[in-house]
Amino acid sequence: MTSSSKNITPVFDKMLTRSDKENLLSQKSICIWLTGLSGSGKSTLAIEFEKELHNRGFLVKLIDGDNVRTGINKNLGFSEEDRNENIRRIAEINKLFIENGIITINSFVSPTNNLRDLVKDIVGATDYYLVYVNASLSVCEQRDVKGLYAKARKGEISDFTGISAPFDVPNNAFLEINTSESDLNTSVNILLSKFIPIIELQKENEKL
Ligand code: ADX
Repeated sequence: MTSSSKNITPVFDKMLTRSDKENLLSQKSICIWLTGLSGSGKSTLAIEFEKELHNRGFLVKLIDGDNVRTGINKNLGFSEEDRNENIRRIAEINKLFIENGIITINSFVSPTNNLRDLVKDIVGATDYYLVYVNASLSVCEQRDVKGLYAKARKGEISDFTGISAPFDVPNNAFLEINTSESDLNTSVNILLSKFIPIIELQKENEKL
């Protein structure tokens, strides 16, 4: 322990609690975690899902891999170690939002069960909801929205998920959405119907 930390007095018992924040917002804060291959439709789905929850009066924060990697995680690549650090930081950020009563929607490839379990450990199992956004590798590669699969096949990108780096099918997803079977509207409606009952919290005076 350093001498400066000896003089620190935590004030947690005097601070507003997560319940205070959740009651203010009339919602239960949880972490909704979308995993899937690049091009599976995670971000498209997350953007529409966030808008629909917002329109229904929920305070939601969408956290997206490609965005985060231009900011707080811009020093990280795609080695196993860097993906681990990427996901660890995001999970810690999730905790801050959740303590503030805010619902998070996360869009990260998070390719292995180990990485997803890391999120569950940091966020806490009761607040963590894993959604597998499923589209087969051949479908994602055919879509190749960002042109990355073509580059990976030519060897211009290393450690590319699905091509030269692993992707584990999730073994414990709360929900699976197959984006080659359901269109965007249908997929968003599935998410809304599953999650609204979980995040709805009536105000104390409305319960009477
Ligand atoms: S994760 O594996 O660490 O969870 P993350 O979701 O943050 O990945 O970032 C994935 C995004 O980065 C992909 O959607 C894709 O656009 C881009 N990307 C660039 N290089 C790679 C790579 N080698 N593997 C996977 N995605 C990559």
